[in-house]
Amino acid sequence: MTTKVTAAETAAQKEYAEKVRELNSARELPPIAHVHSFGCQQNVSDGEKIKGMLAMMGYGFSDSADGADLVLFNTCAVRENAEDRVFGNLGALKHNKKLKPDMLIGVCGCMVQQEHITERIKKSFPYVDMVFGTHVLHTLPQLIYEALTTHKRQISIPQMDGVIAEGIPLRRESKLKASIPIMYGCNNFCTYCIVPYVRGRERSRDPEEIVREAEQLVADGYKELLLLGQNVNSYGRGTDVDFPELLRRINALPGDFRIRFMTSHPKDCTHELIDTIRDCEKVSRHLHLPFQSGSDRILKRMNRRYDREKYLELVNYAKEQIPGLSLTSDIIVGFPGETYEDFCDTVSLIREVKFSSLFTFIYSPREGTPAAAMEDPVTRAEKGKWFAELLAAQEEIAAENEQKLIGTSHRLLCDAKGTADGYMSGHSEGTAVVEFPGDESMIGKFINVRIEECDGIFKGKIITEE
Ligand code: 5AD
Ligand code: SF4
Repeated sequence: MTTKVTAAETAAQKEYAEKVRELNSARELPPIAHVHSFGCQQNVSDGEKIKGMLAMMGYGFSDSADGADLVLFNTCAVRENAEDRVFGNLGALKHNKKLKPDMLIGVCGCMVQQEHITERIKKSFPYVDMVFGTHVLHTLPQLIYEALTTHKRQISIPQMDGVIAEGIPLRRESKLKASIPIMYGCNNFCTYCIVPYVRGRERSRDPEEIVREAEQLVADGYKELLLLGQNVNSYGRGTDVDFPELLRRINALPGDFRIRFMTSHPKDCTHELIDTIRDCEKVSRHLHLPFQSGSDRILKRMNRRYDREKYLELVNYAKEQIPGLSLTSDIIVGFPGETYEDFCDTVSLIREVKFSSLFTFIYSPREGTPAAAMEDPVTRAEKGKWFAELLAAQEEIAAENEQKLIGTSHRLLCDAKGTADGYMSGHSEGTAVVEFPGDESMIGKFINVRIEECDGIFKGKIITEE
């Protein structure tokens, strides 16, 4: 059973927001908030909710923490370096607080769902006013109200399976591309991953809510909808609308827009999903399908529940069914117990599949996960060498892929100015960024372009303009 935040609770938070707004309107100048979201798209999407709620409370926004009345770090726990950056940034805020003692500092997101992190914040950063976890994001108005009126530290980190909160206003980063979270949490427990511990169990939003949101975004002029979930393709498990059906429903909405989604897990990637990408004209011909390791031995230890053969079967089917498909993936190098031979299986897999681009990571132990307790005899320096070898292999493949794209045609979403005067830039359905002659009136339009050359940047010629 998915727990939804009740209408009464939502109304109570609106009242708190109104009270904070009143407090803020009594000030000479409207208060300024600086919100920084670390990590994945899901977190960036949470950041849009945070900003939506803050806007409701009368806050303006700044890209800098300097001079801000409220600084909020929406943190990521997936790898250690993201956590280190948060601690570094928090340390720097001590100075800001000294200059402006009535400012508020908050830390939220995945990192603080871990007890050892919260303890460290409590001890080492006494000037942090609010610490709150992923399951109480919707209570931000109440937390701010309490912090402002009681001047006491607010700590709210319930450990729970998680809730779904609808109706939170969003302040979206872009006017063209919108993220729609369709599910939250993860049940997979890959042995290296902290996500299931910090984001709770899988829970899917009602399909009607999602379709309504998509419809509204298209009406508002958005051209690209990105459906988000830690494991999107297990959307709707146990209900009558599964992920392919959800894609078909959004695809059926009138309007000229494109649909993307991430992240898919190979074990839940069915031929039906691939056929749906093939058949739905608005769904981008792109599949982000992390394989993590090319070695069956390591995949087992990672608890990924597929093997190399099954992964290759899937991508080969996808390539066969969807001409021009762009494939991307995530890879971890140096999982505990990985040998050089295992690592070579990963390199051979990328050579076989020829991904358009890769997100590559060196394994980072996460406290409390099974992998963190596994023996890990390979040194960090050695893993670094393997990592460099993987990047070099991918560079070769990328150069090959680049050559293959010359002469091909793409429907681009024009979204920025180009690097040279008189040029605009657009994204293909896959990962290609192409520049073409044009002007700013093209922003937000779909433009058909043939790629003519690549000098570090793809340059193309317009075939027809829409
Ligand atoms: N160490 C390194 N990379 C990780 N990822 C997840 N957990 C870890 C970890 N502990 C990577 C995976 C995942 C991506 C979002 O982050 O590749 O797909
Ligand atoms: Fe982490 Fe695995 Fe869930 Fe992805 S599928 S969030 S890697 S546990």
